Amino acid sequence: MKKLKWGMIGGGEGSQIGPAHRLGALADGHFELAAGALDHRPEVGREYAQRLGVAADRAYGGWEDMLAGEQGREDRVDLVTVATPNSTHFEITKSFLEAGFNVLCEKPMTMTVEEGEEIVRVAESTGKICAVNYCYSAYPMVRQARAMVRTGEIGKVRLVVTNFSHGHHGDATDADNPRVRWRYDPKMAGVSGQFADCGIHALHMASFVCDDEVKTLSADFASTIASRELEDDAMVNFRMDGGTVGRLWTSSVAIGRQHGFDIQIFGETGGLRWASEQPNQLIYTPVGGRTQIIEKGEGGLSADAERLSRVAIAHPEGFPLAVANIYCDLADAIRGEIRDGLPNAADGVRSMAAVHAAVASSNDNGAWVDARPSIFR
Ligand code: NAI
Repeated sequence: MKKLKWGMIGGGEGSQIGPAHRLGALADGHFELAAGALDHRPEVGREYAQRLGVAADRAYGGWEDMLAGEQGREDRVDLVTVATPNSTHFEITKSFLEAGFNVLCEKPMTMTVEEGEEIVRVAESTGKICAVNYCYSAYPMVRQARAMVRTGEIGKVRLVVTNFSHGHHGDATDADNPRVRWRYDPKMAGVSGQFADCGIHALHMASFVCDDEVKTLSADFASTIASRELEDDAMVNFRMDGGTVGRLWTSSVAIGRQHGFDIQIFGETGGLRWASEQPNQLIYTPVGGRTQIIEKGEGGLSADAERLSRVAIAHPEGFPLAVANIYCDLADAIRGEIRDGLPNAADGVRSMAAVHAAVASSNDNGAWVDARPSIFR
């Protein structure tokens, strides 16, 4: 099958998420890296792109040059990944969609709900794919949990509890480190720190596994390190359309917790538990029965969990492979087969609406507020 051409914006050398995208996009041979504007420093980005095998005339110094250069080509890129800092996502994503490119945007998709709604509209009107990298949803055992909820194996879901709490910004003496400080500075990060950074992964996961959407929420934000303007810890209670009660804790000062992302789903006839630090295992307890460990790779899993399992039973699935699964589904979508489960612009704007609702709620003593973007009310 002909390889799809892939372009990348951001994700330069030394960036956090860039290598995961390259491993993910290139892992299965669906895509080849054909163009890039990889760094905020034009020369550094051009040089690195060429080292990665990009031809000199497609190693761009900035995303505007890449847009202009790719637009006119017969062999233009089939997909553009936006892996730049958050405040640039909207402008870049919108520009490429409008020019007829498919886009995979990093989370958070935008800084405001209005921008997010605009992206949903542009994606709809252009008919182009706008995916958002909620990559944890592509772990095989997350798909298994979703399938078990869908087939009623735990009955109606009463309660979902999810955490994305780590301790890597918990050292007050390191709070002024430039790589850490911007995350809590509203000028760089927007209205929310930890909730918009990690909390939205957990919120998307709750919606994804429960197959339901967040309707209302009540939030309590705290900046536990006094020099921080934005929250480094948040507790968010929510309710879903189907009545499920949700609890979410996200923190960056939970020293001792490493990745700290987990979810528990409690239904009328059973419970499920998954944690990103043990991604191969889904813990299942039927009501009144014994707790079982369902292992990735064993027989009898859902078709989706089997499709997305890359390595044999007992071998660990790595995080980049979850990203690779997003790229596989994107390749299928570009080629015309839209698969269920690809996180999209609607998921992106729901997150932004939840972030803004949580800020409003926290500022109003945890008042219950509508968490949906207006286009989905
Ligand atoms: P980083 O600061 O480590 O790297 C950002 C890269 O983008 C650098 O190479 C920088 O030179 C480049 N860049 C900045 N402005 C640019 C511009 N205008 N044009 C081209 N390149 C530009 O940031 P990190 O941690 O890699 O985060 C990038 C994005 O990925 C963020 O939106 C972040 O929220 C998201 N992310 C998502 C994760 C996930 O689990 N889905 C995990 C980590 C980050």
